[in-house]
Amino acid sequence: MIIQPRIRRNICVNAHPMGCAAQVQAQIHYVRSRGRIDSPQKVLVIGASNGYGLAARIVSAFASDAATIGVGFERPGNKKRTGTAGWYNIEAFRREADAAGLPAYNINGDAFSDEIKREVERIVRNHLGQIDFLVYSIAAPRRIDPDTGEIYSSVIKPIGGTFTAKTVDFHTGEVGRVSAEPANKEEISQTVKVMGGEDWMRWVEQMMSANLLSNGFLTIAFSYIGSEHTRALYRDGTIGAAKKDLEQKTAAINQMLQPIGGRALISVNKALVTRASAVIPAVPLYIALLYKVMKEKQLHEGCIQQMHRLYSEFLFTGQPPAVDAKGRIRIDDWEMREDVQKEVARLWQLADTGNLKQLADVKGLREEFLRHHGFGMPGVDYRQDVPPDIF
Ligand SMILES: NC(=O)c1ccc[n+]([C@@H]2O[C@H](COP(=O)([O-])OP(=O)(O)OC[C@H]3O[C@@H](n4cnc5c(N)ncnc54)[C@H](O)[C@@H]3O)[C@@H](O)[C@H]2O)c1
Repeated sequence: MIIQPRIRRNICVNAHPMGCAAQVQAQIHYVRSRGRIDSPQKVLVIGASNGYGLAARIVSAFASDAATIGVGFERPGNKKRTGTAGWYNIEAFRREADAAGLPAYNINGDAFSDEIKREVERIVRNHLGQIDFLVYSIAAPRRIDPDTGEIYSSVIKPIGGTFTAKTVDFHTGEVGRVSAEPANKEEISQTVKVMGGEDWMRWVEQMMSANLLSNGFLTIAFSYIGSEHTRALYRDGTIGAAKKDLEQKTAAINQMLQPIGGRALISVNKALVTRASAVIPAVPLYIALLYKVMKEKQLHEGCIQQMHRLYSEFLFTGQPPAVDAKGRIRIDDWEMREDVQKEVARLWQLADTGNLKQLADVKGLREEFLRHHGFGMPGVDYRQDVPPDIF
């Protein structure tokens, strides 16, 4: 099959296996070029097939030679249809780890289920003994409660009032307006059920009671705050409510981890184009302006740079990590710098379809989005016939 990108409403519905593999290799190359980091050796990443989780696993393996277990929820390719990008990414990672002699175990399935938790426990018991670092990096649209079988769905909506803002279709470059009606109570609580901290806590709880966490165990989950432009929809909306719940769960997890001297942390990450963030209204316009400003100031980072900085400058320096007043690590520090936000706000006011090319880095955003699906990678021959089930 000749595989070209197929995009519908900011969602890319296919992926290129060789391009995804090249994208994983590029991240590995970046990490290797930066030298060694002394970080935990037995690492579990939940949400390891894409975005921040994939990047964290790459840093653990290729900067620290860690043995890793990666959980993702992806669709394989078949003769007629490509798999999801994450399917190819996680397999490409395993192959690279194999070639480097690094133990790497992949699990494809629903991390919210107890069945997948038991499968991970089995792998830890049989191969690693215990784990010393757990990265929780899930972005999911729904969750089946393992206790009740009930299905919960997450929505991206404001709370308390309608949200109206500028947005961009980043494939056509057209600037328009978007509106989102406020969520009702049920939608808020369902979103918290999916994207809040309950499942993170369940992972730690179950692994701890199975005696699979080492002394000094560390776990981290990712949050987002962001700018005024997306605040009503994001931080003060349904997803923000879930993120606040995630952040609050650190207290209970820390208490649970006391007997083994363990610790739970939150890292607030930068806004980046990933499969998850591209579909949030107004976020692509914000990101396109942010990329423009941060690139001009030479502050731009992608997932791999963010994760590398998290490990090398915050988590594993030999000192306790710097945290904000609420105890969170802030690798969104450069995004939130006053000069950056001021400039984004100025450009936001001016942006329209006619001047967007000059004011915003829509090209960079589009390229990064496509690279997440394995398209536009240097060195990949996209005219070649590739079987979608090649791996
Ligand atoms: N992208 C951003 O701008 C941004 C910024 C700050 C924080 N974050 C947070 O970082 C985390 C990861 O986001 P991302 O943007 O890297 O997302 P992503 O879509 O790139 O990756 C999500 C991962 O979750 C996995 N996943 C989804 N549902 C699953 C399930 N049921 N079982 C197992 N795995 C499942 C996917 O397979 C994938 O590996 C999220 O918590 C997100 O809120 C993202």
